[in-house]
Amino acid sequence: MSRVLHRSGAIPPIAVAGDGIYLHTADGQAIIDGSGGAAVACLGHGNRRVAEAIAAQAGAMAYAHTGTFSNQAAEDLAEIILKDEPGGLTRAWFCSSGSEGNEAAIKLARQYFLEIDQPQRVRTIARRQSYHGTTLGALAAGGNMMRRAYYEPILSQTHSLVSPCFPYRFKREGETDAQYLDRLIEELDKEFQRLGPDTVMAFLAEPVVGATTGCVTALPGYFRRVREVCDRYGALLILDEVMCGMGRTGTMHAWEQESVTPDIQVIAKGLGGGYQPIGGILIRDRIVKALAAGTGGFLHGQTYQAHPVACAAALEVQRIIREQHLIENVTLMGERLEIGLYERFGNHRHVGDIRGRGLFWALEFVTDRATKASFEPSVRFNERVKAEAMARGLAAYPMGGTLDGKVGDHIIVAPPYIVEASDIDTIVERLGDAVDAAVKGL
Ligand SMILES: Cc1ncc(COP(=O)(O)O)c(C=O)c1O
Repeated sequence: MSRVLHRSGAIPPIAVAGDGIYLHTADGQAIIDGSGGAAVACLGHGNRRVAEAIAAQAGAMAYAHTGTFSNQAAEDLAEIILKDEPGGLTRAWFCSSGSEGNEAAIKLARQYFLEIDQPQRVRTIARRQSYHGTTLGALAAGGNMMRRAYYEPILSQTHSLVSPCFPYRFKREGETDAQYLDRLIEELDKEFQRLGPDTVMAFLAEPVVGATTGCVTALPGYFRRVREVCDRYGALLILDEVMCGMGRTGTMHAWEQESVTPDIQVIAKGLGGGYQPIGGILIRDRIVKALAAGTGGFLHGQTYQAHPVACAAALEVQRIIREQHLIENVTLMGERLEIGLYERFGNHRHVGDIRGRGLFWALEFVTDRATKASFEPSVRFNERVKAEAMARGLAAYPMGGTLDGKVGDHIIVAPPYIVEASDIDTIVERLGDAVDAAVKGL
């Protein structure tokens, strides 16, 4: 019996220790954390330097309210991320999760337009099958249909959704990439027109869509054209890099590979690597200046924002990533993972698509590669693969509802940035065996 309310009825294995890419359970299993949880554990587990940084900060000063004090860990963390002002981003604001980061981004967008005397801007546009968080505001802004379903009647109506850029599923038969792109951009433009272009605050998107559809990268040029539409109508571009950012896809920021820069960027998971709960937003200079010239500050706050212990942990994680050139390892090991997945699953009857970037890859499962038919949702194929992988000592991140919140199955592999070639091979091998076993068990 457990007094913790778990996600499903059953009590999952109790994780008691972590060591590199492994998690150890109370009943003695060693499991490869092949997805870093939900693409979180970028440094792997049990890093002594991070543990010591946490202890040192907690011992020296665990908490000071940001209404009265700053703290050196937050100052240094913002500096290490923003010292070169990537994409014109000049200020950081830290919270405790990705959802809170998206809430802050939306509220900052609203305040920005009040500061520059455009109070009529109250709407956002995002994409179906995207996820921006679980709190009511972030859930309302996003397009994860499965996670929205129960709460639809109580979600704010100021957010609207357009189609995702998801060629494997939604590029039409006979349509070229260029035609598909034109169609998506036209749809976005029309949505601005429908809402009234000067009522829209921001367009929100994940540069690489994470858990909802499984590592879906956009077609080249998509984000540049989205940026053009935003600029045409004076709306902000908010890029949610909670899952795909902080090095996960082979560059510190996923937008670097899209030739666009955001006005506000949301970060979390890989920022602190799971050593402490931390998220944040990175803010472009023109927004900072508008606040400075207007009311002077951001009218949004949380008790635990810029928490010293969380910031100290993230600072050490970020230092290690830089000192050990781990993003280069993401690219190197990412190539090996990509090759390994294609070799193992490229002709697999039940793997319709292999997609991703860096150390962020997914398999989408089908009953038939030619028709791309998905498994019946009641089969819960993604969960079967997860269970078979766990039985073989591999944790991966599965999800159903890939297409529309109901239909479709995928699983994500997103190992820590410290992963080695032999680990990649083991992950692919165990995943291959798990998929085959799941098929056999049908
Ligand atoms: C892209 C994206 N945005 C926001 C969130 C919400 O972050 P959190 O669960 O830390 O609140 C997630 C979490 O999976 C995410 O992947």
